[in-house]
Amino acid sequence: MRRFILFLPVIAAGSILYAQTNLNGYWVFQVPRGDGTFAQSFFELTLSGDTVSGRAIRGANSTPISEGTFSGGQLHFVLAIPGRGGATTKVTYEGHESGGKFSMTRTGQGPNPVSGEFVSSTKEAALPPAPLPLPALHDVRDNGLVRTPPMGWNSWNKFAGRVTAEDVKGMADAMVSSGMAKAGYIYINIDDTWEGAARDANGNITTNTKFPDMKALADYVHSKGLKIGIYSSPGPLTCAGYIASFGHEEQDAKQFAAWGFDYLKYDWCSAGNIYKDEDMRPVYQKMGDALAKAGRPIVYSLCQYGRSEVWTWGAKVGGNLWRTTGDISDRWASLDGIGFGTRVPGNRTQLDIASATQPGHVNDPDMLEIGNGGMTGDEYRLHMSLWSLYSAPLLAGNDLRTMTDEIKDILMNAEVIAVNQDRAVKPAKKLAEAGTSVVIAKPLADGSVAVGLFNRADDNAPVTLNWSDVGITSKKLKARDLWAHKDVEVANESLTVTVPRHGVVMLKVSAVR
Ligand code: GLA
Repeated sequence: MRRFILFLPVIAAGSILYAQTNLNGYWVFQVPRGDGTFAQSFFELTLSGDTVSGRAIRGANSTPISEGTFSGGQLHFVLAIPGRGGATTKVTYEGHESGGKFSMTRTGQGPNPVSGEFVSSTKEAALPPAPLPLPALHDVRDNGLVRTPPMGWNSWNKFAGRVTAEDVKGMADAMVSSGMAKAGYIYINIDDTWEGAARDANGNITTNTKFPDMKALADYVHSKGLKIGIYSSPGPLTCAGYIASFGHEEQDAKQFAAWGFDYLKYDWCSAGNIYKDEDMRPVYQKMGDALAKAGRPIVYSLCQYGRSEVWTWGAKVGGNLWRTTGDISDRWASLDGIGFGTRVPGNRTQLDIASATQPGHVNDPDMLEIGNGGMTGDEYRLHMSLWSLYSAPLLAGNDLRTMTDEIKDILMNAEVIAVNQDRAVKPAKKLAEAGTSVVIAKPLADGSVAVGLFNRADDNAPVTLNWSDVGITSKKLKARDLWAHKDVEVANESLTVTVPRHGVVMLKVSAVR
């Protein structure tokens, strides 16, 4: 009897402690990013006995929880996340309760376990908000900026979420000291991950600890004779999961202008949980209107991966450039796919939509990877040449502080840049294609034509240009090799050159008068 009485309170204490935590409802797993913000993943849980069921909420999508248990203060559940080709990734959450919240560790997503806090949340925080009313369509007045494709630098390809204000300052310094600024590269653009954990009491967007003073940073970049760009999303969160402009479009546009920004990249991302693709035009128009009223000239860069035929309306919402594909990466397959393949939604090539490009409003096949180390010099020369023929923005994506001479020569080839910056901004067209050889041309304002002889093959190969295909009506032509920086003899009907694997020979062909 005595033993029994002693035993009871232990059981009772245990059940009092653990029975108090009501798991039913919304929860958030918060992982500190080290910049004063948290990466957040939301869950909806139901507890029945010791069994936990529910779902992980990812925007408009959810993944069911399996193997969920809660006993002795220990919470455990698994997500089977569907991957490519029917494969699933098993992600395990394991946490111990203390005072109504859990110290939680996630394993299986990425190489290392990730630890954070698992705390009670609300439906409002967990689920995407209702869409905002969409404005009636109208044409936003052209801001008159960037009559030739924008040139500059963007932080994403090299730094992704690690970019800091110091990096941005360093890039501004290097832009000038390397000669890039003189070559035409003007915009220093901060991509995602500058944003703070929450808006302030007045609803103003804030910065995280990596960007302690945006006004001072903009002033610094301006003091170098350069311009500065920023990034946001029409959804509540950016692609990296930081706060964005949903419901604060005008307020944010004013804030960006007040800080001194000259350029905004506006990235669809979580807006996809709220709006349909058909809503893209009015949603982008809303920010186009907000920028027009912001009191400062701001280049408007649309980033919605070429969906919804953006090239047909991008200029009408005030866009100066619009992405035409998903993200580029520093690999030949990515460059080749975006450059020559059918990566534009609707199974289209860049050339299929080239006629949309005009002064002040250009197709954007994404930023440059030149100098990031994943491709060869020939591949980077091809990248620079093709982007110039396409009148694409030239936004370097490498570390400008540590460029080799070869990379400098590629990014600062004045003869190729002149093709990119040609004031006529005429669409590129295909002159010939045979297997992996492609000849692409762009007519220039002075009547000459830039021509790229491309070899997509994995071996060096001959590529032929028929001079008559260039379309210049003149008895005599002259040609200049824009990478070798020397004249090429125009004789016979055609020119056949050996082009290195994944390489290019780029010419400027003109009439001799
Ligand atoms: C998307 C964009 C990228 C970059 C990242 C940032 O993936 O397409 O260019 O801006 O978001 O999170």
